[in-house]
Amino acid sequence: MIEVSNVTKRFGPTVAVRNVSFSVPRGEVLGLLGPNGAGKTTTMRILTCYMPADEGTARVAGFDVHADPLEVRKRIGYLPENAPLYKEMYALSFLDFLSRVRGIPQSRRKAQIDRVIQTCGLEGVLHKRIGEMSKGYQQRVGLAQTLIHEPEVLILDEPTTGLDPNQIKEIRMLIQEIGREKTIILSTHILPEVQATCNRVLIMRNAELVADGSPQELSRRAAGNELVAVEARGSEDEIRQGLAAVPGVKAVTLVHTEGPFSRFELMTADGKAAAEAVFDAAVRSGWTLRELKAEAVSLEQVFYELTIGEKEDQ
Ligand SMILES: Nc1ncnc2c1ncn2[C@@H]1O[C@H](COP(=O)(O)OP(=O)(O)OP(=O)(O)O)[C@@H](O)[C@H]1O
Ligand SMILES: [Mg+2]
Repeated sequence: MIEVSNVTKRFGPTVAVRNVSFSVPRGEVLGLLGPNGAGKTTTMRILTCYMPADEGTARVAGFDVHADPLEVRKRIGYLPENAPLYKEMYALSFLDFLSRVRGIPQSRRKAQIDRVIQTCGLEGVLHKRIGEMSKGYQQRVGLAQTLIHEPEVLILDEPTTGLDPNQIKEIRMLIQEIGREKTIILSTHILPEVQATCNRVLIMRNAELVADGSPQELSRRAAGNELVAVEARGSEDEIRQGLAAVPGVKAVTLVHTEGPFSRFELMTADGKAAAEAVFDAAVRSGWTLRELKAEAVSLEQVFYELTIGEKEDQ
């Protein structure tokens, strides 16, 4: 449904997207994840014909964004970052206005509007001004806007930014619901978001794609690295050196000190074995342990490693 190959986009000396390629099959909900400035919005703007790529090609449903922008726009619903809505308009008039702008024939307009009202749960706010709605409802109106012309593909740029936790949950559920029928790309820098909504994740860093896989696969990439958290009383330096000498410990990071206690995170090959060895070392060295536990490496750490680029920098 979406085919991006070798796309590069520069803004003067800044490379915003560098040689990015990926494809999205019909029906997939793809999360585009990455820190600020990674190139997510730029990638989406190229796909939505909002700006041209300098190099490479992008296709939506077989249509090239450069050669056939009208065909592409027909098939895409786009929710931009900080979506501008007509705040003075009433929700119902806004949807009616959109359906005209989108060129939906009058005979189909009412049915189409009713359909998005139902999908997005807007029944209760139809006669409210958009600017007077809660942020969550404004975002629902934003989603309704992307759906009005029945596109096959939705491109949602940070759809839950600025919402409270309950609203986030509701919008996520709505996206999941819509995702049953449509192909969706959504960008975010919130990890639980992709775990909750996406079947596949792309991670961008510094304009490049650094990972591509299901949330589970990305977590598995971190397998073979387990964390052990240790909190002990004593000289920080002494404990740090002692921990570094424990067999199986690859790296020691100080998390914080709190009074006489220091908390460390150990990167280990085998968390349980390392935790036992740390316990022995603590007994031998006379440190008082307040906490000692092995933790699985989360998707969050995979994201951190991939986007901070520790490995390359070392
Ligand atoms: N119109 C523009 N003019 C100049 N530079 C731009 C423009 N748009 C984006 N950039 C630059 O391109 C890079 C990628 O920006 P982009 O907005 O795509 O990142 P992003 O991943 O969406 O970040 P965020 O998470 O903050 O939304 C950044 O360095 C940004 O400053
Ligand atoms: Mg952005």
